Amino acid sequence: MATPRHFLQLKDLVRDELDYLFARTRIIKTRFKTYQRYWPLQDRTLVMIFEKASTRTRLSFEAGMHQLGGSAIYLNTRDSQLGRGEPVEDAAQVISRMSDIVMIRTFEQEIIERFASHSRVPVINGLTNEYHPCQILADIFTFIEHRGPIQGKTVAWIGDSNNVCNTWLQAAEIFDFNVHVSTPPGYEVEAERAGLYGTDHFEQFADPMDAARNADLVTTDVWTSMGFEAENEERLRDFADWQVDAEMMRAAKPDAVFMHCLPAHRGEEVAAEVIDGTQSVVWDEAENRLHVQKALMEFLLLGRVND
Ligand code: CP
Ligand code: NVA
Repeated sequence: MATPRHFLQLKDLVRDELDYLFARTRIIKTRFKTYQRYWPLQDRTLVMIFEKASTRTRLSFEAGMHQLGGSAIYLNTRDSQLGRGEPVEDAAQVISRMSDIVMIRTFEQEIIERFASHSRVPVINGLTNEYHPCQILADIFTFIEHRGPIQGKTVAWIGDSNNVCNTWLQAAEIFDFNVHVSTPPGYEVEAERAGLYGTDHFEQFADPMDAARNADLVTTDVWTSMGFEAENEERLRDFADWQVDAEMMRAAKPDAVFMHCLPAHRGEEVAAEVIDGTQSVVWDEAENRLHVQKALMEFLLLGRVND
């Protein structure tokens, strides 16, 4: 049996494959928008395992699989044996014998790696504490749609150096752009945890205004990610000066776009006038989760296709 191809972090795909994926995304998106039936994954089954909450990830994977002609099954920790201590390796053996592809949202990256190493079918990371690669596929596709190639551009990341930030940093190495990161003291990027090859593609700034200066894209995320709720009170205090507001957007380039993976907290990490303003592309960004993930599932199951 051939070893399946997994997507556990962004750098699991090389640049050429990511470019291919974006080219397929354009085709698949156009077919969807023009109501053309496209069922390359007929009779294939996606299993989605959620150990954390989700709206976009569940919806985009489930709808996406149906739109490609397949079906999707939702499992969560609460009402499966996963929540009662069944070893992840055993779950992987069983689930991957009954399905064609698996998407997992969980806590430590190590969990998804253990699952993948015992899976007969491709495994996709739908968010871990460390990474959110499907999100960044959508974000980069969205940037390219709005502004063209991202190579050589500057992305400002304001706030927590979390799973989404780590994945932006991996993307910067692959696509050759720069990330200017500003976090409160004590929340800085850890290059090893981010899975980086080096430090050439990012710079850390104490002042978020400095990070935003001349950026082509300004982006942020919640101050408290899922799994870190116990730190919420402390984080509300620590991150108070790291809100993306209109003044910060004025420091960026005049044609800079604003992104947020969502869900957002207006009045915390982003001001309403920014996320609801003219530079915000958050709804396109959310929609593109659907299209890039359809291309991803097609690639992991069928390889490169021509039609
Ligand atoms: N951005 C994102 O992954 O959203 P959900 O948590 O709703 O899936
Ligand atoms: N960083 C956030 C992203 C949610 C989509 C979290 O992990 O909760």
